[in-house]
Amino acid sequence: MKEVPKFYNDLDLTLKEIEYLLSRGVKDRKSCFHYTILSTVNNKTPESRTVILRSFNKDVFELNIHSDSRSEKINQIEANKNVSCLFYDDKKKIQIRINGQAKIEKSYQPSWEKLTNWSKRCYLSENKPGTEVGKPSSGFPDRFVNESPTDKDSIEGLKNFSVIKVIISRIEWLYLASQGHRRAIFKILREGSSYKIDKKWLIP
Ligand SMILES: Cc1cc2nc3c(=O)[nH]c(=O)nc-3n(C[C@H](O)[C@H](O)[C@H](O)COP(=O)(O)O)c2cc1C
Repeated sequence: MKEVPKFYNDLDLTLKEIEYLLSRGVKDRKSCFHYTILSTVNNKTPESRTVILRSFNKDVFELNIHSDSRSEKINQIEANKNVSCLFYDDKKKIQIRINGQAKIEKSYQPSWEKLTNWSKRCYLSENKPGTEVGKPSSGFPDRFVNESPTDKDSIEGLKNFSVIKVIISRIEWLYLASQGHRRAIFKILREGSSYKIDKKWLIP
C-alpha cells in the first residue's frame, strides 16, 4: 500500500499543500492546477467552464483569472458575484473546491502588461465571444492568424480585457487514499482587511 503523505492527518500541512498546489498551478502549465472549472450563476442556472489560473495570493487568499469583458461570465458575475472554482489532480488524487466572491477589474493594466502580444490577440475580436457567425472564425482579424499583433495593434484589446478576482471564502479539500479518504474545510473568516481561518476535518 502506498505510504500516506505528511499532510494526511494534519490540517495545517493540508492547508500548506493547498497553497503550494495553487501557487505551482499558476507557474506550471503541466500542473492540473493550472486550470480550474469556474462556475457562475446565470439567473438560477449554474454555468461552468475551464479557465486558466493566472495568480494565487496566499497572503490574502485571492486568485485571478483573465477573461474578455464582453463574455457571458462577466455579465453573470456582475449580476451575482458568488462563484466556485473546482480543481482535480487525477495523479495526486486531490480535489479542491473553492467558493468565493468575484470582483471584475476591467482593463487592468498590470496583468495586461504581463501578456505577450500573441496572447493579447484573443482580446482583439470585433464581435463579442459567443456571437453567432455564418462561417467558422477565430474572431480576430485574419492577419493575426499566423502573425503576432504589434504593440500598437494589441493595445486595442485592453478595452476588452478583464481580470476576475476571486476573494476566497472557503476551500474544501478531498484526498483519496486506499487507507481512507480525507476531507477538510477551511473557512476564510474575513474582518475588514484581516482574516482568520477556521479549519475542520469532514467525513469524506
Ligand atoms: C484549456 C482551456 C483554457 C481556457 N482558459 C480560459 C481563460 O483563462 N479565460 C476565459 O475567459 N476563457 C477560457 N477558456 C474558454 C472558456 O472555457 C469558455 O469557453 C469561454 O470563456 C466562454 O465562456 P462564457 O461564455 O461562459 O463566458 C478556456 C478553455 C479551455 C478549454
